Amino acid sequence: MTMQVALREIGNCVIRRCDLSDLIPAMEINLKTLPEHYSDYFYESLLAELPEAFLVAEIDKKLVGYIMCKIEYGFSNFKKLGFVKKGHVVSIAVLPEHRKKGIGEGLVQEAIAGVKLKKSDELYLEVRCSNNEAVRLYEKIGFVTKQRLKAYYRDGEDAYLMAIEFAY
Ligand code: ACO
Ligand code: ZN
Repeated sequence: MTMQVALREIGNCVIRRCDLSDLIPAMEINLKTLPEHYSDYFYESLLAELPEAFLVAEIDKKLVGYIMCKIEYGFSNFKKLGFVKKGHVVSIAVLPEHRKKGIGEGLVQEAIAGVKLKKSDELYLEVRCSNNEAVRLYEKIGFVTKQRLKAYYRDGEDAYLMAIEFAY
């Protein structure tokens, strides 16, 4: 088994790349914290395709958060008619008892570094319009709201599409 290096430390919390053995604990965090769930196969494929931006936060050897992303090619959220390489934050969560300590921000910042390693032009995500904590986190980091997606979620709630553009 290989040990992943620490990308960032926030107090006693380490942010590092995800290992295969982290997938079940990451899925458990997702099940506890978000209504959007995914198959085992989907987690495995995201880890295989973009390990640079599938990251976990760990405290005392226990996972307390994760972020997972993919790379897509499509129309820019910034440039009219531009075709670009885009990172997509599929999901991020931190366990409730470990929130408001900067772990979510650390995960997003390190995922940005990860998608920049792959020379992505932009990073985007969807977030529930009612999810003020997450919207504030993304805004703090520099994401801007580009669209409101009507009835994006299964329960009918709208999403904001938020995105950030990179310069190299
Ligand atoms: N109220 C107001 N602003 C908040 C709050 C809050 N309760 N929580 C976070 N923020 C904002 C603030 O701007 C904060 O910066 P500050 O501390 O300097 O004020 C900034 O976010 C960073 O906060 P962190 O402590 O880094 O964030 P945290 O570790 O608490 O994680 C997260 C934030 C991931 C959104 C967490 O609340 C969570 O897991 N929520 C449930 C799951 C979820 O909603 N995930 C996002 C769904 S969208 C998607 O996955 C693409
Ligand atoms: Zn998405």
